[in-house]
Amino acid sequence: MSILALETSCDDTCAAVTDARGAVLANVVSSQGVHARFGGVVPEIASRHHLELVNLLVEQALDEAGMTLAQVELVAATQGPGLVGALLVGLSTAKALAAARELPFAAVDHLQGHVAANFLLTGGDGRNGSFQPPFVCLIASGGHTLLAHVRAHDGFEVLGRTLDDAAGEAFDKGARMLGLGYPGGAKLEALASGGDAQAFPFPGSRSERARGGWGTARKSFSQGLDFSFAGVKTALLYRLRELSQRELHARAADLAASYQAAVVDSLVLRAERALERTGLDRLAVGGGVTANGELRRRLRSLGATVHIPERALCTDNAAMIASAARHGAYATGERPL
Ligand code: KG4
Ligand code: ZN
Repeated sequence: MSILALETSCDDTCAAVTDARGAVLANVVSSQGVHARFGGVVPEIASRHHLELVNLLVEQALDEAGMTLAQVELVAATQGPGLVGALLVGLSTAKALAAARELPFAAVDHLQGHVAANFLLTGGDGRNGSFQPPFVCLIASGGHTLLAHVRAHDGFEVLGRTLDDAAGEAFDKGARMLGLGYPGGAKLEALASGGDAQAFPFPGSRSERARGGWGTARKSFSQGLDFSFAGVKTALLYRLRELSQRELHARAADLAASYQAAVVDSLVLRAERALERTGLDRLAVGGGVTANGELRRRLRSLGATVHIPERALCTDNAAMIASAARHGAYATGERPL
């Protein structure tokens, strides 16, 4: 079944077309650069931009797929979670298209979308194979951090999630404290590449654990599958306060590398634990943070079969929403409309 999908949960306006086999025929994204100057996404601005862009993106996706609306058999859109005003634009557009063409409509959960990105066939003609359940899926983005047990194509069980910030948010906030721009994950990684990851034993890092720095109060949390990044963020703030401007300049790379290590360690440790607890040796990922080289390297060294979709399918995109819809993973459990 050929599917047209929209994703507008945050600041990326996305449209995609997939075919009957789950191959990606088009996957277009228009990122709204306008939010950088505010240091974060401004919901009202995001909604307005979605409204301006969404029809153009639908046309572009159909064009790239070499299709017309008449050939689409199902329309899908992200139902949530996300910014309400932003979601509304994609949902209303998709519903209107479905209603006008008398097509079924699928409302899809955004996180199910990240999981389903792993099922897609890529490489134009679909020569790159997809990853099939069962597997553990680590989703780490600017808005979400989650470990999922994926037993089937149309759902997942949450094994652990963040209790405070998302991993990408932790990267972005750390980057901001270090004077790097927004979004700062990739910039922090670049700065970290010249630094010593052991220089500052931040909470959550292997070096802190090796020093026996985990108090009993945190032990039970630390043995679970939930994440917390508030501690490492505060620790960075305190370290920065202790350093003079000159020291800060001299040690910026060490600070970035140590901070990155703490966030990555926290992700990898829990992913490894989730594999152990489920008895699985297959791991998939999703979310923008999985672009991080250190995270990829560490996940690949776990000894499990690791599936990392291409970057365009890890960050927010509509092909993943089409993939979830293709497998009947509708957020509402039915086809409304
Ligand atoms: O999935 P995504 O594109 O958007 C959503 O948040 O939904 O993820 C964006 C997040 C941002 O927080 C960004 O800083 C982070 O992914 N990110 C990275 C890297 N590239 C993007 N974090 C660490 N290292 C990177 N190389
Ligand atoms: Zn996302």
